[in-house]
Amino acid sequence: MTESRTVLVTGANKGIGYEVARQLAGKGFHVFIGARNREAGRKAADEIAKEDGNATFLEIDVADNASVIAAAREFSKVADHLDVLVNNAGIMMDGDDAILEVSDDLLRKTLETNTLGALRVARGFAPLLAKSKAPRVINVSSGGGQLTGGADGWSPAYCISKTALNAVTSQLAAALPKFAVNSVCPGWVRTDMGGQSATRSVEEGAVTIVWLAADAPQKLTGKFLRDRKEIPW
Ligand SMILES: NC(=O)c1ccc[n+]([C@@H]2O[C@H](COP(=O)([O-])OP(=O)(O)OC[C@H]3O[C@@H](n4cnc5c(N)ncnc54)[C@H](OP(=O)(O)O)[C@@H]3O)[C@@H](O)[C@H]2O)c1
Repeated sequence: MTESRTVLVTGANKGIGYEVARQLAGKGFHVFIGARNREAGRKAADEIAKEDGNATFLEIDVADNASVIAAAREFSKVADHLDVLVNNAGIMMDGDDAILEVSDDLLRKTLETNTLGALRVARGFAPLLAKSKAPRVINVSSGGGQLTGGADGWSPAYCISKTALNAVTSQLAAALPKFAVNSVCPGWVRTDMGGQSATRSVEEGAVTIVWLAADAPQKLTGKFLRDRKEIPW
């Protein structure tokens, strides 16, 4: 059983999740590379282990409850506690369709991953997080989920799923006073999701997530942050 700080990053095979995992491995964490695709997950874990330290692939499809339960079981074979959960896995299926054009099916699929997925992984790993001295849950949200200022019409299903994810953050923070539970907006980041015109690198997108995982005060909880500063819901 490991003594180092442990972190599970979902959707860590690429994009922001990979970068967060890479940086946390560099800071001495034992990083669990959560991915639904075995080949991509193993490759990411091998790359990070080669360069930055301790990384273990963990198969997890956040949209599938059985997969999340199996992942918690597999995790327990390697480590006896989880210090940090980064709910990073996410999808954006809609483009600039108007809200009235979005199908129930698309909205349901988006909520299943982006909102329920994060809640279900938190639920599945809560007993392992409770064994940490300073448990932390970081939900990777989006400025698109902010209610302050009103919506501006892009990807409505995605934005609704992130508003609801922020509500999950707030509920978990209230229910788990020993935990630090926060939402993060990484900014607009150059990944498969963000596209190449985005204004931030993955390194910049990872900053607040890595800080919350490794260095932020434990008493910081129930907030929505960007660039290490609180932003309105
Ligand atoms: N990029 C941006 O500008 C931006 C802005 C604000 C917020 N965010 C948020 O940041 C997070 C990471 O986004 P990204 O830009 O890095 O996107 P990305 O490059 O598309 O990566 C998304 C990751 O999530 C994984 N994933 C999707 N559904 C999953 C599931 N059911 N189970 C497990 N893993 C799943 C993907 O796995 P596969 O490779 O198997 O598909 C991939 O590893 C997301 O929550 C996103 O909403 C991104």
